Amino acid sequence: MSKKIAVIPGDGIGPEVIAEGAPVLEQLGFELTHFGWGANKWLSEGIGLPPDALKNLSDFDAIYFGALGDPRIPDMAHGREILLGLRTGLDLYANMRPIQLLNNKLTCLKNKTCDDINFIIFRENTQDIYGGHGSASNKNTPQETTIDESRHTYAGVARIITQAFECAQKSVTLGHKSNAIKFGGALWQRVFNEIAPKYPKIKAKQLYIDTMAMEFVRAPEQFEIVVTSNLFGDILTDLGAGITGGLGLAASANIHPGRIGLFEPVHGSAPDIAGQNKANPMAAFLSAAMLLDFLKLFEPAKKLREAVKQAIERNICTPDLGGQKTTQEVGSFIRAQL
Ligand code: NAD
Ligand code: IPM
Ligand code: MN
Repeated sequence: MSKKIAVIPGDGIGPEVIAEGAPVLEQLGFELTHFGWGANKWLSEGIGLPPDALKNLSDFDAIYFGALGDPRIPDMAHGREILLGLRTGLDLYANMRPIQLLNNKLTCLKNKTCDDINFIIFRENTQDIYGGHGSASNKNTPQETTIDESRHTYAGVARIITQAFECAQKSVTLGHKSNAIKFGGALWQRVFNEIAPKYPKIKAKQLYIDTMAMEFVRAPEQFEIVVTSNLFGDILTDLGAGITGGLGLAASANIHPGRIGLFEPVHGSAPDIAGQNKANPMAAFLSAAMLLDFLKLFEPAKKLREAVKQAIERNICTPDLGGQKTTQEVGSFIRAQL
């Protein structure tokens, strides 16, 4: 293995949390190469994702990503080009987002413990309404009409559902909206029904996405793996973060099995706290742990997760978790445990 990692810190708190997590990778002997893609480059040079970016990234084992988003670019045009450009350009079709309670004190749900909240959302990551296709006509008139195409292919749906079943031990639950979304909803349901029987030991369940949102809060213990489309997965994963201590702890892996992976916190650039040394770096550490797992470095990944749990246990936490420590203090504590 060449042991090369591309680091894209991004905007806002992205660079702050990545600065804490990146040294862990360096200490494990990875060579890190930083790419300054983000709002400043977009505003000064008009460049989001440089034309040779995808080709250059193919030299790396993995990508460690912070967050994008800047109040000066309200439509997030640069973020869509860079982040969605990487997800689709590298065909990172499986966005795996664990919803795992790391300490009983962190959940807002009554009578739920770490045993109850421990599942993974497999979010389809290359299709749906994220393609940027559509139109706006009669702009700025009462007749203004917008269309955003939500595109799903059989192959695209089949591969994420297959990946979900491959990773499951007990159950896979599909979140869909076939009662309202005529074509795409039917496709998801049909493909799920085709694939599920190939895994007779895995319980296959289906829930409408609105009911699923309620079940996350009412009875999260019923889930092991949830599979759903891109936009639903985006919304549900923030809900999942909400029941496990917030966005400061939510990690993710964007992968194409057998190829490169991009690892990033679920949160955005958090302009409300950027530059204040308040951002929780734990999601960035936990995303680094997912990166290590992806590269089969299971032992260091486990140690890193344990170190994060230690910090929570001992209340070495930023204000979002009720602590009084800074981003850097939490980062130093976690690295010192390793
Ligand atoms: P956000 O995730 O940036 O922040 C939501 C809330 O959670 C804020 O109150 C923020 O302070 C808090 N928060 C988030 N991460 C935190 C952390 N690590 N520690 C402590 N608190 C944290 O979402 P938003 O405010 O809706 O969006 C801000 C910008 O980020 C927008 O431009 C949005 O498009 C972008 N965004 C980017 C990504 C990404 O790059 N993957 C993800 C989500 C949002
Ligand atoms: C996420 C983010 C992105 C998404 C935005 C920034 C385009 O919310 O990674 O969850 O919707 O996928
Ligand atoms: Mn999101």
